[in-house]
Amino acid sequence: MKRIPASFLPPIALDCRSRTPMYRQLYDWFRRAIIDGQMRPGQRVPSTRGLAAELKVSRIPILNAYEQLLAEGYFETFVGAGTCVARSIPDDALRPPPLKVRKGPQPPVEKRGPRRMSRREAALTHVPAQPWLNLSGAFRMSLPALEHFPIGVWAKLVARHARRPPKGIMAYGDAMGYLPFREAIAEYLGAVRGVRCQSSQILVTTGSQQALQLSAQVLLDPKDRVWLEEPGYPGARQAFMTAGAQLIPVPVDHDGMNIKEIIRRGSDVRAVYVTPSHQYPMGLTMSATRRMLLLNWAARSGTWIIEDDYDSEYRFGSRPIASLQGLDTDARVIYVGTFSKVMFPALRLGYMVLPKDLVSAFSAAREAADIFSSTLYQAVLTDFIREGHFARHIRRMRMLYMERRRSLVNAIQIQMGDTLEVIGAEAGMHLVALLPPGTDDVAVSMKAVQMGISAMPLSTCYLEPPKRCGMILGYGGANPRQIHDGIRKLRMSVRGH
Ligand SMILES: Cc1ncc(COP(=O)(O)O)c(C=O)c1O
Repeated sequence: MKRIPASFLPPIALDCRSRTPMYRQLYDWFRRAIIDGQMRPGQRVPSTRGLAAELKVSRIPILNAYEQLLAEGYFETFVGAGTCVARSIPDDALRPPPLKVRKGPQPPVEKRGPRRMSRREAALTHVPAQPWLNLSGAFRMSLPALEHFPIGVWAKLVARHARRPPKGIMAYGDAMGYLPFREAIAEYLGAVRGVRCQSSQILVTTGSQQALQLSAQVLLDPKDRVWLEEPGYPGARQAFMTAGAQLIPVPVDHDGMNIKEIIRRGSDVRAVYVTPSHQYPMGLTMSATRRMLLLNWAARSGTWIIEDDYDSEYRFGSRPIASLQGLDTDARVIYVGTFSKVMFPALRLGYMVLPKDLVSAFSAAREAADIFSSTLYQAVLTDFIREGHFARHIRRMRMLYMERRRSLVNAIQIQMGDTLEVIGAEAGMHLVALLPPGTDDVAVSMKAVQMGISAMPLSTCYLEPPKRCGMILGYGGANPRQIHDGIRKLRMSVRGH
């Protein structure tokens, strides 16, 4: 028998001075709560002893009320399972009675005031949503191979911290994050990403999206100009737009964002958002020359650089490319990273490396937003990193994603070699497949979803009308069989057969 556990009850008000006996007041209250749907069929009711203590009355009226409700079929009891609201009460008995329609002239409808919202609201809904995109099926973007996550190890570490948590894990924590976690991140970034920082510069966030949101809040005023890669990451566009910034697209080519174009177009810019290690979505790497040009220009013009290093752990051909932050000598770079890809997205943990003079402003902004991230998972992830599971998991996933990428490129070559042009397949968990000129990628994406695959249209990453359409194909969460089958379905979505 499935029972709904006891949950909160609306307050029970008893009137000791009323002429209605106490048991009758209780009976009426429960009956009304059931009919109004405040108590659901199968929901446990409190024990008579517990309720008597809570209401500070004797048990007798409660026993009498329960007996009456049982007799009338509102309650039922099961041996060893206690008393609950009967599950057989017909639905129509539970519906509130229809409102009585008054005869004669109706009172005039009151004039309602406007329902005002901020200008930011319009910006929020401006980024085209893709409501047709399924959350499941092959090629879902940003989905790691969850079935290969070492869940046993993770569960043990969670249990270790959750069983007897010290006060520090349950009380309010530091807005910058749990210190041992920040130390582990600083060490990791120094060793693997060439980031130069101390743990005091690390701010733990709820994923990189929050890092972008905080950056917008701390660094930008309305109408400030922000350069963004074109095509680029819609999440960044959304974060900066909600701050009222003017977004200026800068084209990317095979060397990444075109920095000469930025320099040529002027210096009155507050910030630049870049993904230099693995340009999103095209998958290219910013050349060393462009990195130096960008850093020098930012230092001269007083521009902040927001470096989103979202998946550079996964490079297949060469060793990981060192971060832009590591080359920065003027403390211009705000470095953003995430555990969404290397661990799993629902963990909601990311981090920023802040220039020292920005630490107190970002810490205050975080405090004002949501105070801090869950300490339990920060502590668990600290052990996961310190005990070597993190490095092992990344190594295993790198091999796995390399195989999946190979399967995808092969499947495209065999089944759609004459239709798709593959770009950016050297790193990460996705690649871009350009469609023949003139093909509408949104229409293809919609058709593909009907066939059970979730391919994102490239055009949604453009601020201006795109020159070329294509599909962004995530392969992290799809095995070779799903990849092969997914490309067959994509071919049918493009060609209709
Ligand atoms: C460019 C880029 N940055 C960041 C993220 C990750 O965001 P979050 O850490 O908020 O899950 C993604 C995920 O798709 C991304 O593509």
